[in-house]
Amino acid sequence: MSSAISTDPATMVIFGGSGDLSKRKLVPALFELHREKQLPPTTAIVGYARTGESDETYRAEMKAALAEFARKKPVEEAEWTSFASRLFFFRGDLTIPKNFTDLKARLGAIEKERGLPGNRLFYLAIPPSSIGVVVKNLGQAGFVYRVDGPWSRVIVEKPFGRDLQTARALNEELSQVFAERQIFRIDHYLGKETTQNILVLRLGNGIFEPLWNRRYVDHVQITVAESIGVENRGKFYEEAGVLRDIIQNHVLQLLCLVAMEPPVAFDPDAVRDEKVKVLRSIQPQSGEEILRDSVRGQYGPGAVDGKTVVGYRAEKDVNPMSLRETYAAWKVQIENWRWAGVPFYLRAGKRLQKRVTEIAIQFKTPPIALFRQVGVLRQEPNALVLRIQPDEGIALKFGAKVPGPVTKIDPVTMDFRYSEFFGASQPEAYERLLMDAIHGDSTLFARRDEVEAAWEHVTPLLDVWRDNPPLDHPNYEAGTWGPDASVALLARDGRRWRRP
Ligand SMILES: NC(=O)c1ccc[n+]([C@@H]2O[C@H](COP(=O)([O-])OP(=O)(O)OC[C@H]3O[C@@H](n4cnc5c(N)ncnc54)[C@H](OP(=O)(O)O)[C@@H]3O)[C@@H](O)[C@H]2O)c1
Repeated sequence: MSSAISTDPATMVIFGGSGDLSKRKLVPALFELHREKQLPPTTAIVGYARTGESDETYRAEMKAALAEFARKKPVEEAEWTSFASRLFFFRGDLTIPKNFTDLKARLGAIEKERGLPGNRLFYLAIPPSSIGVVVKNLGQAGFVYRVDGPWSRVIVEKPFGRDLQTARALNEELSQVFAERQIFRIDHYLGKETTQNILVLRLGNGIFEPLWNRRYVDHVQITVAESIGVENRGKFYEEAGVLRDIIQNHVLQLLCLVAMEPPVAFDPDAVRDEKVKVLRSIQPQSGEEILRDSVRGQYGPGAVDGKTVVGYRAEKDVNPMSLRETYAAWKVQIENWRWAGVPFYLRAGKRLQKRVTEIAIQFKTPPIALFRQVGVLRQEPNALVLRIQPDEGIALKFGAKVPGPVTKIDPVTMDFRYSEFFGASQPEAYERLLMDAIHGDSTLFARRDEVEAAWEHVTPLLDVWRDNPPLDHPNYEAGTWGPDASVALLARDGRRWRRP
């Protein structure tokens, strides 16, 4: 990965430079990189959108965004002024080829003035339906070099397709213009410090990896729970649902990092080769197995953090009879030598009791219950919990003797918290990922085969769910841990979900 690599000065063009993602994540991340002097002084950032007047109005808009979304506040005026001098605006439509030839001229002028060598990073922060046309226009306007010299790269946001067929089509469109090494499919979960720490924990330490297999692990739980509802994204959610929005990308990425074999080297292809192998080892499921091993849910009204909230069907831009899932749980089996027989239980949902993303490795119990003789009938299994967000850290749960004359065993926890050890403000995922893309390091980005392999498992689920519409939606109250059927999914195997 990138830490020791020097940074080429480059021009970054953000298509969708006026949008929510740019204001909330991209510009704040770039500002932080600027503040930490990680960007060469000449690097330029050009926002591309239809609405906007000039560099000055764009800068004012981004200044307001930073006041709200900068990681470290307040934003000092001197820091803002130096950052603002990097920011430019280009008014254009994504669908008009002439706008791209004009953009080329404008970039040429900016690069000449700033002494930039012509390296270009295109960020597609635009509606997914526009990706194809932008890629085509970039190609036709001669923006993409495939030979040595200045580099050109493209970052593509999620959602990456809505099923296997559309993901393949999108990959095809991209590959008509860009070579695979120039394409950076972003999954911001991979930029999170705690996600990156999964491999460090496993492979940078001697004590965990020997236990990391079917001999010692009983099962794994991966949870991505949100307490918020769909907010103002009802329209998007009606199209997507939690399976596409969270499980296909973030959850399967976490699964890959937990389950993969040690790569032969810490480089982009070696790491991604191992992740793809995990996806290929997931046991395909028949329609019947899918219905048995997956659970869908949709929230009804309820209370979150003491506040009454409406059900999904009453959210803005949502069909009052909607069948869209806001919760999904799925039991996955990885059929390889390391994991055969160890179920991975995945779950994600909105309007759950609290916001938490965690991976829990639950270990097998000791082979004999020695302390039964002195009255300890049941012991909590050991668990290693990797907390991805919030309250990032790692906890190891084990049994300890309660002081006193009788033998009583209680679960205790050894807890490592990032904030206590490394300070409260961790870099945002986008900071890391933008730097990696500028460095040309794609380790933390999804490769084409990886994305398609993930869709190969998720698409049958979508199809089976579509052909078997749920009869019980809404089936969980907002502010709870999801539908009863999800509890039953684990209870059937004699297990239960953790209460994070
Ligand atoms: N927002 C997030 O937190 C988030 C998180 C993860 C992924 N994403 C992904 O990031 C992408 C952007 O999301 P967003 O939330 O930022 O969307 P958004 O707020 O709707 O912004 C869309 C941007 O695209 C521009 N645009 C749309 N059509 C255009 C056209 N024909 N010509 C020129 N510009 C056009 C818009 O500018 P004008 O209307 O001014 O032209 C605007 O800047 C999507 O793929 C989304 O799925 C977003």
